[in-house]
Amino acid sequence: MGNITFTMIKPEAVVAGNTGAILNKIEAAGFRIVALKKIHLSKERAGEFYAVHSDRPFYGELVDYMSELPIIAAILEKDNAVADFRTLIGATNPADAAKGTIRAEFAESLAKNAVHGSDSDENAHIEADFHFSAEERL
Ligand code: RTP
Ligand code: MG
Repeated sequence: MGNITFTMIKPEAVVAGNTGAILNKIEAAGFRIVALKKIHLSKERAGEFYAVHSDRPFYGELVDYMSELPIIAAILEKDNAVADFRTLIGATNPADAAKGTIRAEFAESLAKNAVHGSDSDENAHIEADFHFSAEERL
């Protein structure tokens, strides 16, 4: 399995001051931060990032939400990074997220669910390349 995944701390978690607590949990779970930045995505960039969801009914709402306020983007490294990170963040809907997961602790709702995590090795690389240049990865 691949050794990187890509994450975003979503706007409501950044506004709530949970960036540090979420990064603590990520590092405590054994992920190394390869790249990290705070960015305000334009609506166009957010739409491009979530293009895989363009047919889903929540696409417009998702793009508006992710471009409304700044987010934290990061590349994380660990053995089996994609699957282990999805386990750490918990189910998409925080009502179904296991106790102790990031979404169980910090998500507000299905839409405002605190963090993004890549869903495959291929998408982890696509998403990492979308946000970070080679010089930003250390
Ligand atoms: P993510 O991509 O953010 O890690 O989340 P995920 O894989 O667990 O879920 P996905 O199906 O990829 O959905 C992407 C994001 O869209 C929002 N969503 N809203 N209103 C709704 O029914 C709905 N469903 C999904 C969530 O913010 C979800 O994380
Ligand atoms: Mg997803």
